[in-house]
Amino acid sequence: SAAEKGGFDWFMLKEIDEQPRAVADTLLGRHSVDGRLQLDEMRLSDDELREVDKIIVIACGTSFYAAMVAKYAIEHWTRIPCEVELASEFRYRDPILDKSTLVVTISQSGETMDTIMAIRYARQQRARVLSICNTNGSTIPRESDAVLYTHAGPEIAVASTKGFLSQIVACYLLALYVAQVKGTKYGDEIASILAEIQKLPAGIQRMLDEGDQVRKLATELAGSRSILFLGRHVGYPVALEGALKLKELAYIHAEGFAAGELKHGPIALVEEGLPVFVVVPPKGRDQLQEKTVSSIQEIRARGARTIVLAEDGDEDVVPYADHLIRLPKVPTLLQPLVATVPLQIFACEFANQLGHDIDQPRNLAKSVTVE
Ligand code: AGP
Repeated sequence: SAAEKGGFDWFMLKEIDEQPRAVADTLLGRHSVDGRLQLDEMRLSDDELREVDKIIVIACGTSFYAAMVAKYAIEHWTRIPCEVELASEFRYRDPILDKSTLVVTISQSGETMDTIMAIRYARQQRARVLSICNTNGSTIPRESDAVLYTHAGPEIAVASTKGFLSQIVACYLLALYVAQVKGTKYGDEIASILAEIQKLPAGIQRMLDEGDQVRKLATELAGSRSILFLGRHVGYPVALEGALKLKELAYIHAEGFAAGELKHGPIALVEEGLPVFVVVPPKGRDQLQEKTVSSIQEIRARGARTIVLAEDGDEDVVPYADHLIRLPKVPTLLQPLVATVPLQIFACEFANQLGHDIDQPRNLAKSVTVE
């Protein structure tokens, strides 16, 4: 009913709108004012965490993209090697696991069969399994050694939105906690990054408040048969997520690429008028911003219609952006939490223009309980 949807036409719109709160709820009660983390509820002792020498993050779909984002943060803060794997592929490649391996699974529903089977396999190999999950008491947390709930509230729409953002935040809390326990040299970053994470709900709210320009763009582009998404570093999984949302909701060809891979093949796809979203990393010492700007120049020279997501104050992108979506200035690792929001809004409005059922796209189920 309309009441259940909180006045929105679709659950998905309601859930996009709830994201500032969802992220705040993931953080709630998990850190003290002095910037120390407390994750006592998760049932893994500090000694057990200190023994971990490898982390494998396993998930499907959008949760897999959260895992891809998490890898950057986990390796950076914990200095523990981290792999990311699709749940449906994991147990078929004879993975190397033992009791010092921490397997982290990510699932909104807690009922995804591919992920459940991966957990069973990992535990048979004596790895410890920690699940990041949004659904209390679901199968995945019940079958895991430990659990960290995302507390995003029920997600009804088939296309995941607030689930994704809260999963990234939960993974970051876990990574920072492990860094705190291990006392890595990045420990100093914990308090400052936590302070930045605290500001995220306001940044996400701003992206919601500025949604009209994205909806207008979706109306203009609703005739497109193909749309590309580019990103680098944590912006790469954001590009994949933007493309998945569009596939799920609009049933058009949409594909995400690592911007640096363009020249290795995908640039051949670019033709006159092709819409291409580009997520531009914040300016930093790593030159990723500059390299992304040159990718934008290259595709635009070949006729692409560029839709650029770049932080406030990035003027380098202006000459090459047919449409410019501004993002608040945040540390690179946090950019997915603001950059994903306009892509969700875009997919939703694009599908709406085509008259599709936003909450229940064809051929899809909210939880995929078969392998
Ligand atoms: C996301 O929009 C999808 N509907 C889908 O990819 C989903 O993320 C995937 O099936 C995993 O679900 P889970 O998080 O409930 O395990």
